[in-house]
Amino acid sequence: MSSNNNPFSPTTLDQINLKNRFVRSATWDGMGFTDGSFSPAQVELYRKLSAGGTGLLTTGYIAVNPQGRRNPEQNLLSSRKDQQSFSKVVEVAKAHDTALLAQLVHCGGLASSSLSRQALVAPSATKHPLFEEEVPQALTKNEIETIITNFGEAAARAREAGCDGVQIHAAHGYLISQFLSPYSNQRTDDYGGSRENRARILLECYSKIREYVGNDFTITIKINGSDYLEDGLECQESLAVAQELAALGLNGVEVSGGTQVSNPLTPVPQAIKAGENELPFAAEIYAFAETLSIPVAAVGGIRSLETVETLLNQGVSLISLCRPLIREPNLVNQWQAGREEPAT
Ligand SMILES: Cc1cc2nc3c(=O)[nH]c(=O)nc-3n(C[C@H](O)[C@H](O)[C@H](O)COP(=O)(O)O)c2cc1C
Repeated sequence: MSSNNNPFSPTTLDQINLKNRFVRSATWDGMGFTDGSFSPAQVELYRKLSAGGTGLLTTGYIAVNPQGRRNPEQNLLSSRKDQQSFSKVVEVAKAHDTALLAQLVHCGGLASSSLSRQALVAPSATKHPLFEEEVPQALTKNEIETIITNFGEAAARAREAGCDGVQIHAAHGYLISQFLSPYSNQRTDDYGGSRENRARILLECYSKIREYVGNDFTITIKINGSDYLEDGLECQESLAVAQELAALGLNGVEVSGGTQVSNPLTPVPQAIKAGENELPFAAEIYAFAETLSIPVAAVGGIRSLETVETLLNQGVSLISLCRPLIREPNLVNQWQAGREEPAT
């Protein structure tokens, strides 16, 4: 990682050359075909994002199997057809010297059983505010093993489609986050209880993906610095998990926070105003940046170039934006050309 803190200067993420420090954080776009494949509208979206100057794009959350899907327009990467449609997105996304990560998810207890027509599954069979009305089934060890393999297979498809890497979605109350969090994991086997046990599925997903894609393919995670829940995952544990993964060869960490039922901070913090209340996850992000030797990306309520500079000066490597790029896909080009106004 270069020591130059200019947000428009090139850097590297593992073996990926990035033209600047800006990242489009994973953003579900609601435009996939209901069979899970990528649509021409998504190809157009990524064409626009790629032309807008952001160095690294992350896809919206892509489910690794149909049971892990939450929305009918959510993409899948579990068949040859999904992969072929994704390769068209990859081709346009990587024009303009832009890199692309595929975000892989299983939504667990937040998936839709009416969509998949399969059981709703989670770490524990607990009726729970996070899971709304339906009580999920607790995953068996064999089922966990299958999901881990599905992460490996989906990553291999992302690689085959020409993507630069994958991001494991371990944040926001989805399956891996449900395992990490004592709030939603009441298991008494090797996948519950101690921090080591709650993190086991994530470490096994990482290792399985590595097995499928080899060493020359980038793997990152998105993780909650904190769940902001009583009995939720807290920063010290989350950071320890990231350190273990970094020791295994993980290439980067995006630090987010919250779940759908957290209070006051959810993953999409509301009413952010430049210069007033940007960066609500700052404390956890700085703790990660200070401790980890692999690149840390900050996400959540970043709106101004002043905040971007502060983050880079504090050792954060990459700057992830979601809503600013929904509103203005050309924002990074404009900032680079001298615009002083923050994101709207
Ligand atoms: C419409 C929308 C879709 C999102 N989809 C995803 C997603 O698929 N995966 C993910 O990790 N986060 C997703 N997020 C969360 C963002 O990546 C980001 O963490 C959050 O919006 C905070 O960043 P921001 O203040 O720049 O918007 C989504 C947010 C929004 C508003």
